[in-house]
Amino acid sequence: MTQKIYLRSFGCQMNDYDSSRILDLMREEGYEAVEAPDDADLAVVVTCSIREKAQEKTFSDLGRLREMKKAKPDMLIAVGGCVASQEGRKILSRAPWVDVVFGPQTLHRLPALIAERRKTGRAQVDISFPEIEKFDHLPAPCAHGATAFVSVMEGCSKYCSYCVVPYTRGEEISRPLVDVLVECAHLAEQGVKELTLLGQNVNAYRGRGPNGTTVDFALLLEFVSDIPGIERIRYTTSHPKEFSDRLIEAYGYLPKLANHVHLPVQSGSDRILAAMKRGYTHDWYLDRVARLRAVRPDISIATDFIVGFPGETEEDFAETMRLIDEVGFDASFSFVYSKRAGTPAASLPDDTPQSVKLARLQHLQSVIEANATRLSEAMLGRTERCLVFGEARKGGGMLAARTDNNRVVNFAGDASLIGRMADIRITDVFPHTLGGELVCAGGE
Ligand code: SAH
Ligand code: SF4
Ligand code: F3S
Repeated sequence: MTQKIYLRSFGCQMNDYDSSRILDLMREEGYEAVEAPDDADLAVVVTCSIREKAQEKTFSDLGRLREMKKAKPDMLIAVGGCVASQEGRKILSRAPWVDVVFGPQTLHRLPALIAERRKTGRAQVDISFPEIEKFDHLPAPCAHGATAFVSVMEGCSKYCSYCVVPYTRGEEISRPLVDVLVECAHLAEQGVKELTLLGQNVNAYRGRGPNGTTVDFALLLEFVSDIPGIERIRYTTSHPKEFSDRLIEAYGYLPKLANHVHLPVQSGSDRILAAMKRGYTHDWYLDRVARLRAVRPDISIATDFIVGFPGETEEDFAETMRLIDEVGFDASFSFVYSKRAGTPAASLPDDTPQSVKLARLQHLQSVIEANATRLSEAMLGRTERCLVFGEARKGGGMLAARTDNNRVVNFAGDASLIGRMADIRITDVFPHTLGGELVCAGGE
């Protein structure tokens, strides 16, 4: 009889990617994915620990699953992702009803861990880091629609003073070039037109190439760009320190590279950047942006900010606001600093009241939001080449497409356009989307 798996994923796109690979893997084991945990035989929670709130969500979710398990004692509960990686066996003391704990690098062992749990009746924990082995043991990915993610490197060796990622995901490690290209080509054959290459610091990619050479991120992009059927390439998340001249030049000769980049800066104050151990300054970041804009004048730039890092003064924050002005960011993922146990910044004195931090965050977000609206308004009347990715959320026979600069545009069109490129004229600007009309449908 087919077993049912329920999966919930928190955190970043690396977790989303891992989650879809877990589902691919478990499908091969005879599981069928279900939308609600009630009738699941196996519930998997893929967790995030980047901020305290994210971590707490894990435990409230596990609490809910415990109630369900009371009604259905055969149900197994597995916990993966970054909280699992960080806490390991300790998860079992806080949530003894958990059956399996696995890490980001051991997800391919999930079937074996479940079998062992069933055989022995004992909870199983495996959060080791057997390097890149997991990719060799996962089935080829299935495409779902015209867009897909491909993980090209994992982990982080930067050790910013506030961040858990190097501890939960391990050091940077890149997949060999051939493996990445085979996966991309396989997805393109299934109709994928837009690829997003993934990694914690994706532009730190240094994979094994032909004849023992090392391939950097710019060269990887060249290869991916040559794959027939791929129309557009995105990547996330890139690190400013790894934003090389070669990568910037690639924007000049690779038209498939999207006109949008996510380049987290975290702060505009040199003092805070140093305390964060980011390895660059305000001016250095500005120089990267200037060079990029020399090649792609209209590229849209999104970023991440941490507001209220320990010791951040009004002057430091003003430096951040100055940077926002200078760059004209198009979007940001910005949060108040969250103290993470085990990171160096956790021991820094932090006397700024939370209310002050929140007010700074709100101010920052409203300025970036206003900027994004201004940039959207500048698109009015322009015809944009978009990838039609599905039906519009609000329904009504409308379709949704993504512009090169990463905005969603809703327009009236026939469902046969889904999965294809189309030229769409922008006619309306709404708070988080655009409205448009179809000018011309692209090829198959
Ligand atoms: N490697 C990427 C970011 C990955 S983590 C980079 O360094 O640019 C995603 C985002 O989470 C970070 O950009 C940062 O803004 C945020 N973040 C990480 N640790 C945090 C913490 N302790 N408190 C608040 N935000 C944090
Ligand atoms: Fe965290 Fe810094 Fe690594 Fe980004 S670069 S994942 S912020 S340690
Ligand atoms: Fe969270 Fe881990 Fe990603 S901590 S943001 S799921 S790398």
